[in-house]
Amino acid sequence: MRIIKVFDTTLRDGEQSPGASMNVEEKLQVARQLQRLGVDIIEAGFPIASPGDFEAVRRVASEIKGVIIAGLARAKDEDIERAAEALRPAQLRRIHTFIATSDIHLQYKLRLSREAVLEAAEKAVKKARQYTDDVEFSAEDATRSERDYLCRVLEAVIQAGARTINIPDTVGYAIPQEFGELIEYIKNKVPNIDKAVISVHCHNDLGLAVANSLTAILKGAGQVECTINGIGERAGNAAMEEIVMALKTRPRFFEADTKIVTQEIYKTSRLVSKITGMVVQPNKAIVGANAFAHEAGIHQDGFLKERSTYEIMRPEDVGIPQSKLILGKHSGRHAFKARLEELGYRLSEEELNRAFERFKHLADQKKYIFDEDIETLVSEEVSKIPEIYRLLDLSVTSGTNVKPTARIRLGINDKVVERIEQGDGPVDAVYRAIASITETKSELLRFEVKSITGGTDALGEVTVTLEEEGYTVRGQGADTDIIVASAKAYINALNKLAIRKR
Ligand code: KIV
Ligand code: ZN
Repeated sequence: MRIIKVFDTTLRDGEQSPGASMNVEEKLQVARQLQRLGVDIIEAGFPIASPGDFEAVRRVASEIKGVIIAGLARAKDEDIERAAEALRPAQLRRIHTFIATSDIHLQYKLRLSREAVLEAAEKAVKKARQYTDDVEFSAEDATRSERDYLCRVLEAVIQAGARTINIPDTVGYAIPQEFGELIEYIKNKVPNIDKAVISVHCHNDLGLAVANSLTAILKGAGQVECTINGIGERAGNAAMEEIVMALKTRPRFFEADTKIVTQEIYKTSRLVSKITGMVVQPNKAIVGANAFAHEAGIHQDGFLKERSTYEIMRPEDVGIPQSKLILGKHSGRHAFKARLEELGYRLSEEELNRAFERFKHLADQKKYIFDEDIETLVSEEVSKIPEIYRLLDLSVTSGTNVKPTARIRLGINDKVVERIEQGDGPVDAVYRAIASITETKSELLRFEVKSITGGTDALGEVTVTLEEEGYTVRGQGADTDIIVASAKAYINALNKLAIRKR
């Protein structure tokens, strides 16, 4: 069995999904879980992109030991210096430098000749090697690059000291057979290829990112770059859980495996979904709510007689909890903390106290508390951001024969402002009142409500997407009252927008 290295880029390419940005604390939570999941490399960010990205890479590098921490850098001195600085506290560090090699990018984006790009690539790798032996080079848009030129660049960067050469399908253009041939071509044509690991990084624009990655593995790739739940730029990146479970389920076909602790997959998926607000579609392979549900009578009958009739993987192999009912009103702080740890959350003492207080409050409103309820409570705690606007009070009247009216009181820094507004429905009235108090110019792009668990006493979770001045943010709020959850989500998004604008 070959062991394929898993390079996780949820915190970098994944975070490039519109509205999925994470703050430093959230990135740390995800990084800790990725460590438990057993990934080989965590790409923690793009340090030159913003002070927040720099700080996140530095904090992940300081805290997460025993895993290689990578920072992205364009093939430019200042990027590489910044990445090296952010990665300094890491026990194991990798600088990941890249430049595009396709004529389209050279002509329209970089406005550089092929020779100039080749020189910049070589120079960048040499520069990065001054800070670490572990340097990865990516030929951006490799799949639309002229093959022989691509091979020349790869040969030069390996000669300059790159230990991993990454072949990105940046725009998700490749078809599996063709991508496999490209990997084979590189293996045959680059004379020093045995001195580097071939990595692949596939985007999902045609829905082929996982298929392309698996084909590349069959052709000799030794590293896959991927994200949890497949989040990422545009249609996303290759989904880690799908690649890992394909290898696990078909060992004789692939003769390859990873070091991923598959029982941690589901937890990781939930954590990333909660933190980014990117909901996992129910029919998503491996981690979707229906991935192991058998609906048709014939299927249920077969499954009950012998589970392998309709199940190629077991839910427990990816860590889907068997018993979901966990805590109630009488559960103590200790049980609460233990359950949180099992779910992948490690909170500071102060965060734990606040989360436990909210848990007790919820337990008063709701008889049974499920894992999903706990995750919702806690992810709100973990994702806490500085609050300019705070919800102090809300009351609404609505019904069949009254005009829906909302009275709302918000704290804005140390001021308190109250407003009454009417709307087409109770949520509309609440949103009008909030918009009027905050004077927001943002546009509401999406409004989603979902019930976290079953029952009429379930927590309702609302996710809103707002846009203003080119910034897109997602806000979340949960409450047993969906009007309150809607208000919380809108206020959460407005707070995020205020921070982004600053
Ligand atoms: O998609 C891409 O080409 C990238 C590179 C920076 C690796 O994300
Ligand atoms: Zn990418």
